[in-house]
Order: sequence, then C-alpha cells, then structure tokens
Amino acid sequence: MMTAASEPKENMSQKKTLKTAMVGWRGMVGSVLMQRMEEEGDFSSIEADFFSTSQAGAPPPMGDRPILDASNLKRLAEYQVILTCQGGSYTEATYQPLRDAGWNGIWIDAASTLRMQDDCVIVLDPVNRAAIHRALSSGVRTFAGGNCTVSLLLMAILPLIERGWVEWVNSMTYQAVSGAGAQAVLEMIEQTRHQVRSLDAAPEHATVMQLAEVANLSLTTPGLAEVQGAPIASSLLPWIDSETGDGRSREEWKGVVESNKILERGGANQPEMIPMDGLCVRVPTFRCHSQAVTIKLTEALPIEQLNRALLGGHRWLEFVANAKQTSIERLTPLAVSGSLTVAVGRVRKLQQADDMVTLFTVGDQLLWGAAEPLRRMLRIAVERSDELEL
Ligand code: HSE
Repeated sequence: MMTAASEPKENMSQKKTLKTAMVGWRGMVGSVLMQRMEEEGDFSSIEADFFSTSQAGAPPPMGDRPILDASNLKRLAEYQVILTCQGGSYTEATYQPLRDAGWNGIWIDAASTLRMQDDCVIVLDPVNRAAIHRALSSGVRTFAGGNCTVSLLLMAILPLIERGWVEWVNSMTYQAVSGAGAQAVLEMIEQTRHQVRSLDAAPEHATVMQLAEVANLSLTTPGLAEVQGAPIASSLLPWIDSETGDGRSREEWKGVVESNKILERGGANQPEMIPMDGLCVRVPTFRCHSQAVTIKLTEALPIEQLNRALLGGHRWLEFVANAKQTSIERLTPLAVSGSLTVAVGRVRKLQQADDMVTLFTVGDQLLWGAAEPLRRMLRIAVERSDELEL
C-alpha cells in the first residue's frame, strides 16, 4: 500500500523560492495538508507564513513569525502564493478583492468557489499535468483542487480513459461523513454514543431485533442531527450538498462538469465530453470515499485487457483482484484510510452487455480527494518559479 509517508521523494530545490501565505491550515483538509507538506519536506523550498481569520498574533505552527491576519488584504498581497483551505466564504470575500487590487500571485484553493471559472484550472496533476503547465505558461494564476469524488474517480479509471475506452460513466458513491466536515463527524460519534447508552439500558433478555429497534429509536431523540439534518449512524443519507433544481444534488452536478473540465473535454475546440452521472450518498464511514462505477466501454474489450490496464495504471493505483477475500480485505475505507493508494477492484463485465463493466474504487478523500493535489500544485509552482513573474 502507498502510505502517505512512503511516497517516493521527488527532487525538490532546497532554495527557498516562493513566499507563501498558508490560510486555513488548522481544519480537516488543512491539517492533512500540513502533515503531507512536512512529510514531503515542502516547507524547505518555500518561505511560508501562517494566516488565520481568528488567531492573528498567536504562535505559528512552525517558524518564528506570529500568525498573521487572513483578512488583511494588503498583507496577503505581499505573497507570491496564497494557499487556502479556509473554505468558500473566505474565497468569496478575499479572492476577487485581491485580484481587483492588482495582485497577480498564484492562488491555490481547496474550495469549489472558483473551480468552474474560465481562468481557473482544477488541479489533479497525475491527470492534467500538461494542462497545468500550459496554463502557467499562458499566465493563469488561479488553481483549485477538484471535488473529492471527482478526483478519486479520475485517479481510479484514468488508465481506461487514457486509452479511449470510456464512452460514459455512472458512479454511485459511498462518501465518508468527514466529507461533510468536522462537526458532522462529531455528530455521528455522538449519535453512536447515544445508541450505545440506549442499548446498555435495554432489558437484559431483549431479542436481537428488539435491540436493533432500541438503537434505531434512540436516534429520533431531538437535537441529535442538527448538522446533517437527519441521523447517519446506522443509516445513510442519499443526498449530498444542495439541490440544483433538476433532480440532481450539487455533488452529482460537480461529478460531470468538474471531471470533464479536468479532462479538457466538452469545451470549445475540445473533444466531446464524457457523459457522467450517478447518485451521491453519505455513509457512516469516518474517512474515505468509495464509488461503485459502471462504465460503458467504446468497444467490448476482454476483461483481462481492462485488468491489465488497471494493474499497470499508475503508481498510486492498487488493483485488487475480483475475489471475495482480497476485496473485503483491501477494497475498503478501513484498508485505504490515511494512504495515497486509490484501490480499484470488483472489475467484471455486467451481465446485461459485453461492453459494460462495473468496478469498485476507494480513495482517501482528504488526501487525493483534497490536500494532495494542492501541495503538488504548490510544488509545480516552485519548480517553475524562476520563469514565472510573481
Ligand atoms: N464534497 C465532498 C463531500 C467533500 O461532501 O464528501 C470532499 O470530501
């Protein structure tokens, strides 16, 4: 398995190049990003200062400079790079005023706010490294990480897309509660505690189904589901993000528009978009998003050929043979959590048609789904810093 810390090191210049403002580094994505940047020695090649919307003046996580005020645009404008995991509201309040004031630095963002703007590239360099470099050369300075399920899906099926074998994709997701934020995780834990307390108080000779009913009923207690709107412990929530008005959730809409933007398809002078759709579902898993994917192939390829392509796919892809024990051991959120491995397995032809294949994939939505593409974008910016006028 590719643990985060075991990623092969790439050469990083030790010369400190880019003056970088780190914003939103304490939250769930931000702290995973910090951990990865430390593991990879990224801080040795940038001059980082830490900003906060609420803790200016406090000691920094590293270095000597106290934490700076993240709402001070004048101060932020002194930096060549701003890397933010602070969230969409911060981006809305900060990004455009900075640009309007003439700031031409590199903005790297975890939030979705800017992703679909024409002047923003969604970064997932194992997939669109060439597009990122082209964009930098042509003066693009705004980069956003993609939606987590989008990035993880593309990492999983990239070998099939690259070979031109994918006509359309349907993905049914099983998204961890941490994708909904730290408060949602804490709420799920509290729901579970509440269930356990209720079970402890159940009559001694209760039947199994009576116990299940006690556990389920305990979740109807008012105040237990304020964050997500309905209990998730022992359950699931078949809607993620807001309603778009056409029956899709915003998470489902992102699936098709962001994927095709990363793949450079569907725009002017680009190849046709790959139709993608599916249902996004929140499940009571702490970390890792899973997806059950159906792919309509462009031709009825032998399953061995598909397996071989996935097996030799890329260094983060772990191909899991379609057998029960390997699948339940290695193709799960528990097995993948905290690693850079994107596991893919259960690959088999559908009974309905020889040109349709199904597969299951699991990836850590805080790593490849969020933090990893951002730190890699920063590294690309560092590599190009001599030629970029920042
Ligand atoms: N949109 C994602 C989710 C966040 O709701 O799961 C990324 O983890």
